[in-house]
Amino acid sequence: MSDTASTPKVDSSAHPGLPGRDYYSPEIYELEKERIFFRNWFCIGREEQIANAGDFLTEEIAGESLLATRTREGELRAFYNVCSHRGTKLCERPSGHVSRQFVCPYHAWSYGLDGRLLKMPNVRDESSIDREKHGLKPVAIESWDGMLFVNLAQDPRPLRDQLAIEPGEPLSWGRYRVGELRVAHRIVYEVRANWKILHDNFNECLHCPSVHPGLAKIVPIYRTGQVVDDERTDGGVTLGEGMNTFTASGTTALPELPGLSEIDRCSYFGYSTLPNVLMNLLSTGAMSYTLYPRAADHTSVVSEYLYRPEVIASDGFDCSDMVKFLDQVSIEDWSVCEKVQQGIQSRGYERGIYPQEDGILHDFAERYLAERGPA
Ligand code: FES
Ligand SMILES: [Fe+2]
Repeated sequence: MSDTASTPKVDSSAHPGLPGRDYYSPEIYELEKERIFFRNWFCIGREEQIANAGDFLTEEIAGESLLATRTREGELRAFYNVCSHRGTKLCERPSGHVSRQFVCPYHAWSYGLDGRLLKMPNVRDESSIDREKHGLKPVAIESWDGMLFVNLAQDPRPLRDQLAIEPGEPLSWGRYRVGELRVAHRIVYEVRANWKILHDNFNECLHCPSVHPGLAKIVPIYRTGQVVDDERTDGGVTLGEGMNTFTASGTTALPELPGLSEIDRCSYFGYSTLPNVLMNLLSTGAMSYTLYPRAADHTSVVSEYLYRPEVIASDGFDCSDMVKFLDQVSIEDWSVCEKVQQGIQSRGYERGIYPQEDGILHDFAERYLAERGPA
């Protein structure tokens, strides 16, 4: 084999970015709803939130309220959170438990955990209404690695088929057993920036030396602005000498996850999925960001700190060192993302430029355009 055949080609050229309006135009945001948010598998929380029959959660995907629950048979179900009678929003609470039915607050029609229409109080001729046709409208729901994903498409491809084509290869991190981890801490941020700005920010590190001095102390390669280590073939970056996690010191009293390799134990890995999961994997646990686009210029971000259940249950469990560190990193990120949102709306801004170090962002932009289609 020749040298050129064995050396992976690095695309060293710069590429133009997306036009500024793709980040602030309400019309583009409407297109994204139909072609991206409602067509792809969208994470709406963690399976542990609806562990038992009758547990439920409600969540919004770009203005569409959804209700997810678990049946007595243990199956996951999701529906539009809308009563079939006259369209009232069925369930207001973000989460909770019902024994066997959801009752509409307007005329008290009730629906089973499987969405079937059960009762229509005071309707005398019930036979005039076909119960089969007037249950809650279902949407596809699947779980993977402890995350709940819904898909509003009519006939969506299986969740795993989507995950299999994600460039960050989410299916390749099984050894971290994220599905077994549980949420020990949750922080919700309201970020005045477009969801794609958050994706871009997550996938590059040219900003790390200037924005994250604390993080650059823990990950030496981040001091050079590189988001991936070209010396490694596994996509990971190596933490500083003797470090194994993201805290101010790079260490913690918490135990490492079982089953990781020597190299995993001193590494950080991250991946993202289109449209709304950004995942951080460390030897002591994981931290996920789930993005909820609210408007073209507003994204809610739920960050969840995940650890093994037996670690959370152990005496004196304390993850505040990791939370404090990553909360600081998060705030640093959101602050610059909001500045991007402000600047990108200027008449003086047309589109940006991706140097080679922003290669993941260029790939994301290409994929985004292919999915979204022409404006
Ligand atoms: S709108 Fe729900 S019962 Fe009438
Ligand atoms: Fe950052």
